[in-house]
Amino acid sequence: MTRLLLVVCLAALPMFGAAAAKVGDAVDVTFSQHIAPIVFNNCTSCHRPGQGAPFALTSYDDVYKRGMLIQAVTESRFMPPWQAREGYGHFIGERRLSAEQIALIGKWVKTGMPEGDAAAMPKMPDFPEGWQLGEPDLVVDMEIPYQVPADGADIYRNFPAAIGTTEHKWVRAVEFRPGSRSVMHHSLFSADASGKAREVDARDEETGFSGMAGVPGTTKLGGWAVGSGPRVFPQEAPVKLPPNADFLFRSHFHPSGKTETEVSSIALYFSDEPATRVRVGIQLPPLYGRGSNIDIPAGEKEFTIREQFTLPAAVDIYSAGPHAHYIGKDFHGWAVLPNGEEVPLIHVPDWDFNWQGSFVYAEPVRLPAGATIHVEVTYDNSAENPRNPHNPPKRVTWGLASFQEMGSISFSALPVNNEDAELIRQEYGKLQAKHTMQAREQMKGHKESIRRNTGTDD
Ligand code: HEC
Repeated sequence: MTRLLLVVCLAALPMFGAAAAKVGDAVDVTFSQHIAPIVFNNCTSCHRPGQGAPFALTSYDDVYKRGMLIQAVTESRFMPPWQAREGYGHFIGERRLSAEQIALIGKWVKTGMPEGDAAAMPKMPDFPEGWQLGEPDLVVDMEIPYQVPADGADIYRNFPAAIGTTEHKWVRAVEFRPGSRSVMHHSLFSADASGKAREVDARDEETGFSGMAGVPGTTKLGGWAVGSGPRVFPQEAPVKLPPNADFLFRSHFHPSGKTETEVSSIALYFSDEPATRVRVGIQLPPLYGRGSNIDIPAGEKEFTIREQFTLPAAVDIYSAGPHAHYIGKDFHGWAVLPNGEEVPLIHVPDWDFNWQGSFVYAEPVRLPAGATIHVEVTYDNSAENPRNPHNPPKRVTWGLASFQEMGSISFSALPVNNEDAELIRQEYGKLQAKHTMQAREQMKGHKESIRRNTGTDD
């Protein structure tokens, strides 16, 4: 319901008038000549059996049946899904129709959706069946299926699965496959070589365990959320996987109304070449905003948190990963060079919790020592926000549950000189420590305000 509303609202925006004029009125727009190439090349990768989209768009009938809706979702740019603003940073795999293509679809729908010469229909592109990155070196499945109940609250659960490699490996990419797409919201990946995760899991009969208490530092291996593809690490910086480790699926389920059985799989792709460069993570604000005083009054339309970090040494920014929950609205990241010049990094003007992912730069963005990275995350907790899970809106504070909020952009950076990695980590560590302190202070403040307003805050 909410989504349909959104699509209709967006479709009403006058963003396509200028482009429409470009499509000559003399041209008869037909499916086989004009529309099929657009759909097959921009929609069918997801809209075909076995992929994430809810229905197939592989034939004239498929597209004809949903013509009006397709017009609406392409005009609003809800489809193909791509969150980042055009021209503000250049990324691998950008999904976007041109104004001309959108206008063609509009005209085709208005003129009765003729099929045209069926013989002239283009061939469907060859879509990779199975794993998108080709034959994996190793596939690890969850060891015991997990039953996701039909209803109830969201579930966060961790599942260790033996990887079975007995020496160090370099991981160049991972590709995730949920067993049950309708309940899997997202999954974060890591490797645990300590055996602790398995120990914690064995404490009760149930499959998997919740929380990560008692599991020391793990090796992070990316993650997956609805709409995201394989995770490819920088060629010069594959991830070092320790021997005899367990793969940890740290998954978030959203019950679907039907009991589901989950067995997730992860495909691992190894590199023969060890890392030649070091990777450092720069998350702004740190701790997913836990120390940024996220306390958003009910009805507040524009609540912004911001942070900045000045680089002590030059880096190549490899990717940017925005993250917030439902009422996150606008993510903006940019850098200011020592000479004052501004470098665009990423702008997501209309965040959608359902479409997360890491944006990998087509060319890594080099930033010199002394450049300052800025991040602003804005929330809309008003009733007009169709994605607001609370109706009427409620006060929202920081938390892990999806009706609470968090927010940051995680940049993956490769120092230009490997020996600068330590310096960058130290400087970033100071900012993180400051946020840890702030988070403690805010926690105290929240507890007091909850005591004072018992009953009005949960
Ligand atoms: C990256 C995968 C992907 C691509 C590419 C993609 N879609 Fe979708 N599409 C989806 C998913 C997933 C949904 C379900 C969205 C949801 O439930 O939030 C969807 C939903 C839709 C809907 C239903 C919207 C609604 O409100 O019910 C339409 C119509 C649609 N897509 C058309 C298209 C068209 C047309 C294209 C190409 C121009 C396209 N899609 C490209 C994945 C994709």
